[in-house]
Amino acid sequence: MEKMIALTRGVPPTQSFATEKLQACVQTALKDYPEKILQYAKAAGFPPLREWVAERYKVDAGRVIIGTGSLCVLDHVLRSFPMGSLTVAIEEPTYDRTVTQLKRAQAKLIPCPIKKDGLDFTPLKEALARGEKLDFFYVVSDFQNPTGSLMPLTKREELVRLAREHGFRIIEDLPYRQLRYSGEPIPSCWEMAPDITLLMTSFSKLIAPGLRVGLMILPEELVAQTLKIAEDTYINSSYVDQAIVYEFCKRGWLEEQLDDLRKLYGHRRNVMAEAMAEELTGLCEWTVPDGGFFIGAFVNKPIKMDELLKLGKENGLQLTDGRGFYMQGGDQFVRLPFCALEDDEIKEGIKRLAKVLREYPG
Ligand SMILES: Cc1ncc(COP(=O)(O)O)c(C=O)c1O
Repeated sequence: MEKMIALTRGVPPTQSFATEKLQACVQTALKDYPEKILQYAKAAGFPPLREWVAERYKVDAGRVIIGTGSLCVLDHVLRSFPMGSLTVAIEEPTYDRTVTQLKRAQAKLIPCPIKKDGLDFTPLKEALARGEKLDFFYVVSDFQNPTGSLMPLTKREELVRLAREHGFRIIEDLPYRQLRYSGEPIPSCWEMAPDITLLMTSFSKLIAPGLRVGLMILPEELVAQTLKIAEDTYINSSYVDQAIVYEFCKRGWLEEQLDDLRKLYGHRRNVMAEAMAEELTGLCEWTVPDGGFFIGAFVNKPIKMDELLKLGKENGLQLTDGRGFYMQGGDQFVRLPFCALEDDEIKEGIKRLAKVLREYPG
């Protein structure tokens, strides 16, 4: 059989890793200040990296918590509240691992659908009108995983207004914000309301996920309770990894890396967009994103996801189960990551998807 094409995980390709530069960073860190990074340390993270982040985001370093990936810091935040006490609104579809964490914290979830013109707040407003007390709204407002969508400015403003009016906080997860290939940035919720927004971001997509360095910038009043959980969980996350990231950023290499990544991914985004226009017109609906790793495709005909996955495999195509991003439904949704595949693989993958959809019975 032809080689299987995996239109599945959104991971950076090996060729994107600046391995030689990272080797230099490791060497410097271990040569110049081994005593600072090889010992047990404070849970909040390697101080020079916290300072670097604080300067970049113009906040007090005391609000920056660096951990083993941003997802892990989010987990500390959630665990710092009593089990089962939280009510959290989410986009639907949304990033599946966050939903897993929220379910593990036994949070009550209020899904709000992403529509053509952006997030629909109706379910949230209905819940608020019933007198429900919301704690957080989790959003991936820039180039969302899984849809690739960008939350329009008017929706960001509405979310901030609702949060202020009803006293809830926003968790804004922005790992793709700096991976923009076209168009102009629009203000994040965090930029509009840093006092009530928990900003979550990561070096996973910008340097390398294997370093496991991500962070959150928290409202001051949540810092101590989050650090207590972090400390009781792992004492501290690896300062060696954080020092590597710090050395990389300090030398200005992050900016160079971002330029390279924008070229690489911007090109792949274009290749996928062209292939989809050629092959999938009439079969699916989608919007070409200005950044990130994914294009979300909504299939026009009613399909069963199990059947689609099976037919995909028979045609040499691995697909992600769209239902994983939804609380209910998701059979019609296919997440298409363009980040890790070569041009030929993207074109062939989309061609195979079109064949499967054309031949799908009904
Ligand atoms: C929206 C979103 N948040 C968080 C993460 C995980 O980030 P980290 O590697 O920093 O834990 C990902 C990874 O795919 C993601 O897409």
